[in-house]
Amino acid sequence: MSIKAVLGCLYGDEGKAKIVDVLASDVDVVIRFQGGSNAGHTILYDDNKFVFHLIPSGIFHEKQVCILASGVVIDPFQLDVEMKALQEQSITFNGRFFIDERVSLVLPIHKVLDEKNEGLSKDKMIGTTRRGIGPAYADSVSRIAVKIYDLHSKDILRNKIEYISHFHGFDISKNDLGILVDDLADFGNRMKWSFVNLPYKIDEYIKKNKKILFEGAQGSLLDVYFGTYPYVTSSHTIAGGIASSVGFSPKKIDEVIGVYKSYFTRVGEGPFPTELFDEIGSKIQLQGNEFGSTTGRPRRCGWFDAVSARYSTMINGIDVAALTLLDVLSGIDIIKICISYTDENKNILEHFPADSSMLNYIKPNFIELPGWKEDIANRKSFDDLPENAKLYVKKIEELLMIPIKIISVGPKRDQTIFI
Ligand code: GDP
Ligand code: IMO
Ligand code: MG
Repeated sequence: MSIKAVLGCLYGDEGKAKIVDVLASDVDVVIRFQGGSNAGHTILYDDNKFVFHLIPSGIFHEKQVCILASGVVIDPFQLDVEMKALQEQSITFNGRFFIDERVSLVLPIHKVLDEKNEGLSKDKMIGTTRRGIGPAYADSVSRIAVKIYDLHSKDILRNKIEYISHFHGFDISKNDLGILVDDLADFGNRMKWSFVNLPYKIDEYIKKNKKILFEGAQGSLLDVYFGTYPYVTSSHTIAGGIASSVGFSPKKIDEVIGVYKSYFTRVGEGPFPTELFDEIGSKIQLQGNEFGSTTGRPRRCGWFDAVSARYSTMINGIDVAALTLLDVLSGIDIIKICISYTDENKNILEHFPADSSMLNYIKPNFIELPGWKEDIANRKSFDDLPENAKLYVKKIEELLMIPIKIISVGPKRDQTIFI
């Protein structure tokens, strides 16, 4: 199969980047199709930790091409920082890094707006990454965004930025406007070699039978339509979003790989039925080093919620699962999995509700499984795992109704078990 996708199926931070990095050794092209620098994708490379916000997680594989598709929103200044850090590690970009000319830019004003919107009312706060993502996507669908293809003309940039500022009720000074236009035009000049009309390039790759891997950002429960609205991000994170964000036929995706963390985490506000507020939650947070890769905020931790996870499996059409961070559960005596919810009228619910505010009023129903004490970070095969760890994996497989083909037992490439 030559076209695959790796998608986060929970609230983000499922360990997608590690899985993409592992699978990228066997592909030709890795494509980020949505999100922006709200993503924090961590890879260990030569024992050094790298967190990517925009660059696809295939970049450490020298021969692989990495692409940012039309559905991504790019903060040019952030991209500069990331590229520089990689160039210092002798990673090259020329000829193997491309950006669709249709990409919309995240401008400084979008970050100001993100900050401002978050400060308007405490109970309407989303807990965003403050990277300007929501406002940038909003401008994109309002049809006023600055596109990569605008970067060649200072006149167009000046015009559009002035309009965007007025649209949002801001007055941008001549001086600030001049500096921003110069900086963007300079970015455009320096990066010109990477700009492509992506749908044609993808078509070429497909005709040449190249292996393509789509890298999701965020997670399905943060999808702008199907997540816990309004506590979501502003892009389409699910499999259905790939084709429309890239510009190719959805019929061409051969396999969708879902990444599920062995427990749940969430950063920012929003419902989280299985959240733990006790010492087990703190233990998971500590053992999993659960602090946001982008903002450093502590991640809320909780038990695996099979109702939400199964919903993700369904809406994405996940073919196979990768279960990550299983090592983090070592040393927990009893591990719980939520298998249904009970609502205020004592009805048992097995469906993820459309109105996610209902999740604040339901009670999760758990099954309990025996834990394991052994450190599993160096286990190399499924058979090597402690019996209770195998039992846990098998139970999640049964609940998701798809095969678990990859188990991750540590952040490094070689801490990956293929089944
Ligand atoms: P992503 O956004 O889905 O790519 O995930 P993040 O990079 O934000 O967060 C995942 C974190 O877990 C990172 O610090 C990874 O290095 C780390 N990680 C990935 N897989 C494993 C694993 O199997 N075990 C452990 N202990 N850490 C892992
Ligand atoms: P990766 O790709 C986890 C969350 C934010 C907030 C909500 C909206 O690393 O999995 P935004 O800045 O997108 O407007 O914030 O979405 N969020 C993430 N949570 N992982 C991410 O990305 C996230 N990107 C955004 O915390 O709750
Ligand atoms: Mg992350």
